[in-house]
Amino acid sequence: MKETPMRIRTYAVAAVLAVAAGTAAWALVTPGAQAQSADPEAPPPTNSPLRVLAARDGLRIGTAVDTTALANDATYQKLVGEQFSTVTPENVMKWQLVEAQRGQLTWTAADILVNFAAAHGQLVRGHTLVWHNQLPTWLTSGTFTPAELRQILRRHIIDEVTHFKGRIWQWDVVNEAFNDDGTWRNTIWYQALGPDYIADAFRWAHQADPRALLFYNDYNIEGLGAKSDAVYALVTKLRKQGVPVNGVGLQGHFGTQYGFPGDVAENMARFTALGLDVAVTEADVRSVLPMDNPKTQAQAQGYSVLLQACLLTRRCISFTVWGFTDKYQWVPGTFNGQGSAALYDENFAPKPAYHAVQLDLALAAGTRRR
Ligand code: XIL
Repeated sequence: MKETPMRIRTYAVAAVLAVAAGTAAWALVTPGAQAQSADPEAPPPTNSPLRVLAARDGLRIGTAVDTTALANDATYQKLVGEQFSTVTPENVMKWQLVEAQRGQLTWTAADILVNFAAAHGQLVRGHTLVWHNQLPTWLTSGTFTPAELRQILRRHIIDEVTHFKGRIWQWDVVNEAFNDDGTWRNTIWYQALGPDYIADAFRWAHQADPRALLFYNDYNIEGLGAKSDAVYALVTKLRKQGVPVNGVGLQGHFGTQYGFPGDVAENMARFTALGLDVAVTEADVRSVLPMDNPKTQAQAQGYSVLLQACLLTRRCISFTVWGFTDKYQWVPGTFNGQGSAALYDENFAPKPAYHAVQLDLALAAGTRRR
């Protein structure tokens, strides 16, 4: 009974999605009835794994992966393979981890994940080449001229993209280059090189792997606003200049205490109108602890806001959550007193948020064939 309001809401949303696309909402048929169907084209039951349902939408559904958990926790590993069709290394492709000592490149952990993905029919989002966080100490505490820094950045991008050439679907080439007010973030790269490092980074990445899709990725750019305006201006300019940028990643770190933007689809539409793909790259919906029923329902709503916008956007090519279980999720370690941000709890029980995602995917089936 507790689920009734959410179900009504989600069915209403499904009707909107179906009407928007002018198709029937097959998923209103009960799962039991579907199981008896002899039609090989028959849709999967609505309680199928997320990746099965997302495939019917022409969408990849992903998770950030904690590679230590993947190696040590059998339930975690099983769910990564079963539920998701794309994976993002949560940390192990970051500069700090791949080149802790200058010139000593360490790919082992990332290679294991890339191989896992290949074995499970998953695509990989590479994350991330240019960022201001999780940089090696030799870089942040060294003294370099701007020309040297530019060469160091070029070397890093070429080394990493070349190592994974042909195995990465989307690269987050540049991560979080703007402040929330839309001004440039004053990073090590911006200070030394000005905004031109961004075009350079995309060109170098493209040179190293011409087939990878290259993304600009940021948070607080899901809806319209100063920061997403700045990203829009950036990618507009890059496209005009012929810089090889393919997409914009909307991270999607939400909190139930803030509410959710109502214009995510509108924002996605302006990016795709430039000829770009978009992706939701790091969705999670945290709360101030302890949880209660309204927060739990609001969390489900937060995921739906992002996913429904993506489902309504033909060129939204993937929807990735930033960790699928509270057992290993990053929020409690970063935002004091907050947590419960993932689709599954710490015992791997799916929450209402999981069911909201599952139902949104199921009910959108067939409405956005690419
Ligand atoms: C986070 C990881 O989840 C943590 O484990 C790590 O300690 C810090 O980084 N935006 C991003 C991600 O682009 O790389 C960040 O990941 C979360 C915010």
